[in-house]
Amino acid sequence: MENMEDFIRQELVDVQGIPLYWFMAEEWSQVEAFEARPDDLLIATYPKSGTTWVSEILDLIYNHGDTEKCKRDAIYNRVPFMELIIPGVSNGVKELEIMQSPRLVKTHLPVQLLPSSFWKNNCKVVYVARNAKDVAVSYYYFHQMAKLNPLPGTWEEFLEKFISGKVPYGSWYDHVKDWWEKSKDYPILFLFYEDMKKNPKCEIQKLLKFLEKDLPEETMNKIVHHTSFDVMKKNPSTNYSTVPEWDMDHSVSPFMRKGISGDWKNHFTVAQYERFEADYQKKMKGSTLHFHSEI
Ligand code: A3P
Repeated sequence: MENMEDFIRQELVDVQGIPLYWFMAEEWSQVEAFEARPDDLLIATYPKSGTTWVSEILDLIYNHGDTEKCKRDAIYNRVPFMELIIPGVSNGVKELEIMQSPRLVKTHLPVQLLPSSFWKNNCKVVYVARNAKDVAVSYYYFHQMAKLNPLPGTWEEFLEKFISGKVPYGSWYDHVKDWWEKSKDYPILFLFYEDMKKNPKCEIQKLLKFLEKDLPEETMNKIVHHTSFDVMKKNPSTNYSTVPEWDMDHSVSPFMRKGISGDWKNHFTVAQYERFEADYQKKMKGSTLHFHSEI
């Protein structure tokens, strides 16, 4: 197990200016050549923004709210992580190749690195964004528990890396802004984690409308309940408890950690907050994208 850990936890490698996991960089040609299908639904997020949550909601919508059917397999098999190719361990591209349509596809790629077949096929995309400060906190814990990440150092050190985009998938600021701009020209539904927390049913309704689907009220209520943080935390098919320990160590920090908005207040010092906000204003200046950092 230690060998696997050493094998996987290595420094990031730049792919077209974006720091990615070394194994993705090595297998990049496979990712680039990914063949999207017109009825694929892409779930795109910056890491730690609610990917697993919206994936479970979408699998339930695709299965008409059948909660038992959605326990058929772990979320990472029901919604394969396209660019996750670890030699000899897993291959998102290959998993998707043998999957029947309609497929739900997960990616964290910034818009410019997305395989061109998605644009050619005009695939629908659901993008979920979460406020930067909560993402930074969640990513810090994830770096500790998920062994594919380089070690984060102290919170102070990690926060600097996050601000400067020296983390897997690069700058949060560019990621959200670029996907936001793209959503003006492509069929991209742009959702916010904070809205999902505040009124999950309303966001499920947006998803249904976007997908041109309809579900009875009762089914929607069932989906809201089944995808609440407490229920998903206990569900082995959504809580990542089924991945091996060399991959994720939930005793360090559980994957389903807190699931709240505003946890950053328990981590940022006043000085960190001020530095973060000043930098944030500069990086987000001119963008029409606005976040709520608490609800
Ligand atoms: P925290 O670390 O803040 O708890 P992703 O799936 O993109 O990796 O995001 C993981 C984050 O989403 C974690 O945040 C996790 O707890 C939170 N999350 C997962 N399922 C959730 C749910 N049903 N409701 C609210 N938050 C959820």
